[in-house]
Order: sequence, then structure tokens, then C-alpha cells
Amino acid sequence: EKGGYDYFMLKEIAEQPRAVADTLLGRIGADGRLSLDEMRISDQALREVDKVVIVACGTANHAGLIAKYAIEHWAGLPCEVELAHEFRYRDPILSRNTLVIAISQSGETMDTLMAVRHAREQHAKVLGVCNVNGSTLPRECDGVLYTHAGPEIAVASTKAFLTQLVAVYLIALYLAQVRGTKWGDEVFAMIQLLAQMPDKVEKVLETMGPVRDLARSLADAPSVLFLGRHVGFPVALEGALKLKELAYMHAEGFAAGELKHGPIALIEEGLPVIVVVPPRARAVLHDKIVSNIQEIRARGARTIVIAEEGDDAVRPYADTLIEVPAVPTLLQPLVTTVPLQVFACELATAKGHDVDQPRNLAKSVTVE
Ligand code: BG6
Repeated sequence: EKGGYDYFMLKEIAEQPRAVADTLLGRIGADGRLSLDEMRISDQALREVDKVVIVACGTANHAGLIAKYAIEHWAGLPCEVELAHEFRYRDPILSRNTLVIAISQSGETMDTLMAVRHAREQHAKVLGVCNVNGSTLPRECDGVLYTHAGPEIAVASTKAFLTQLVAVYLIALYLAQVRGTKWGDEVFAMIQLLAQMPDKVEKVLETMGPVRDLARSLADAPSVLFLGRHVGFPVALEGALKLKELAYMHAEGFAAGELKHGPIALIEEGLPVIVVVPPRARAVLHDKIVSNIQEIRARGARTIVIAEEGDDAVRPYADTLIEVPAVPTLLQPLVTTVPLQVFACELATAKGHDVDQPRNLAKSVTVE
């Protein structure tokens, strides 16, 4: 059942190109436009939406954080992202024209379900993003977009996360398509590019040998920091979460711009810092993060840099360079997350941990 792998997690990481392809399947029409049949929220209702609120927990929340960048940019809608358990016990301002998107692999996370109930009481429209057919979440939502990752057995989410990203990109692009935005051509081009993502993810998986070597060499590190900007920031959070969950190590993700406001005090000789670098095409973001890498390296950090292939500007400052295929900034999490999953999985295995069943964690938490 593990398909020749030692752990389900390894199998699930390897299945990601297929999972991404399956989540795209049937959703891009021959005319290059999206159709999301199970959506069940009318195009007219989507045109009336004036705010999006995303609720989720754990890894699914990180998918939500990435969705915010996509929804604001392509659909031109204000978007907030909330931890479901925090949202539920505040007094969030919602209306009939608020679209709440609840993301949950299992569809059974009680914190997320409670947030959905809270949103519906206030007459918001609720769209679920879910991987398990017949679970509770889709029944409680107005509409649903299923991810087609297939069963995810390992407690720490990998392929479900990548398919959640695909789902939220589809939602952002669909909102743009239905509502019309100034980015019409870009939206059309992005839909085409999404179709190439399974191949790009496959390319990343083919080059993971050095990442595994690196992970084993860091098995005794006391702590690992992760830095990112823009959508690379949630990717950094996800990389740190994976390491906590699997390797039981201290790990933290930071927005690179925040370094000088505090976290740079943590940098000391030999501290491993993994930096997610935006594409060179986004020069403003890219150049700033290159300066950040220089700053931490000057203070002794061991820099592990994830950057697009051919990014020669980062090379001189990278103790280890992990190259990923060049893709547009907003889609980059699909390729930059994969090395972080492999890194955490390999490091935890080197420590002798069962990566499928990390201590103290459950696959879905059905209590508040
Ligand atoms: C946690 C799991 O309990 O729930 C995480 O350990 C997961 O891996 C989180 O990301 C949210 O789960 P779900 O099913 O709502 O996506």
C-alpha cells in the first residue's frame, strides 16, 4: 500500500505531480476558460462579493495565506485570512456579500466547521475547499471545490497542500474571469500556465538528492529559520511547520522584511537559515531578499537558498543553492514548497522518527 516507499509521506510527496494534474482535470475548458461545476454559487452572486475571508487551520491556513495574494491581485477583492479558531471567537464583520472560503483536507476539523457555522449564521456565502468526498465540510457549505489529491495518510500534509494551492488559484482566477478585471490577459495566461505545473513539480522532485544530503547533515542543528517574502512568506511558515511536526525541532518562519525588526538578533554562527527567493522578474522583491541573505550571512548564518534556476545573483551568498523551475511569482509556492517537505521528511527520518505518525498529532482534530 505504500507503493514501495518506507513511509506514506514519501509516497504522497512523490504523488504530487499527479495530484496537481488531477485537481486541474476538467476545470480548464478548450477555450482556455475555467468552469467550476460543483461551485454551486452563481456567477451573479460571485459578482456581488465585496470581500473574501478565508478560514482554515494548520497547513490549510498556509494555503489560505497564499490565496490572499492571488485573490487580491487577480480578482481585485479585499481578502483576509484567519485561523478558524480565532475567527470563531471574535466578532468578524460579515455580510451577504462576503465570500468565506473554508479550506480543510479532511473536511472534519471542528475549528474550521465552527467557523463555517458562524459565517453562515451571518448570511455569508461559504465555499469549501476539501479533499474528502462525503465529509462534513461540503455538506455545510453553499458550494465546494474538491481537491483531488487522493487519500492522504501521513499526518503532516503534503500533496493535499499542493492541491489546496491549485484550488485557491482556480478560485482566484475564476473570480477574475467572472467579475472581469484589469488583468484579463494575465488571467488567461495563468490558466494556461497552471496546466504546466505538474511537470514543474515533477522536475523539482527529480533534483531532491542534494536536499536529502543537506537534511541529514543538519539532523543535530538546534534550530532552523525560514525566510520568505510575498507568497514566499507563507511558504517559509509551511517549511517551519513541517520541521516542527516531523523532526520536533525548533523552527520558525519569518517575513524577510521583518528581519531587521527583531529576528535578526537570533542569527549566530552556523545557524541554518532557509531562504525562499522570489523570481528575478519581480526585481523589487528579489533584490531585497538578496540583501537579506547578505545581511544574515555576514552575521554567520549558514544560508540555504531556494531560487529559480539560473538566478546567478544569489549564488555568491548561498552556502547551499536549491534550484527550482522558473514560474510566475504567484505560482512559485507550488515548486518552492516541495524541497521543504523533502527536507523535513528526510531530517526527521535521520533522527529516527516515524514521519507518518508524529507524536502528539492527529490527522484530523474533530474537537475544538
Ligand atoms: C492538524 C493536522 O491537526 O489539522 C494538520 O495535523 C492539518 O496536518 C490541520 O493541516 C488542518 O486539517 P484539515 O483536515 O482541516 O486540513
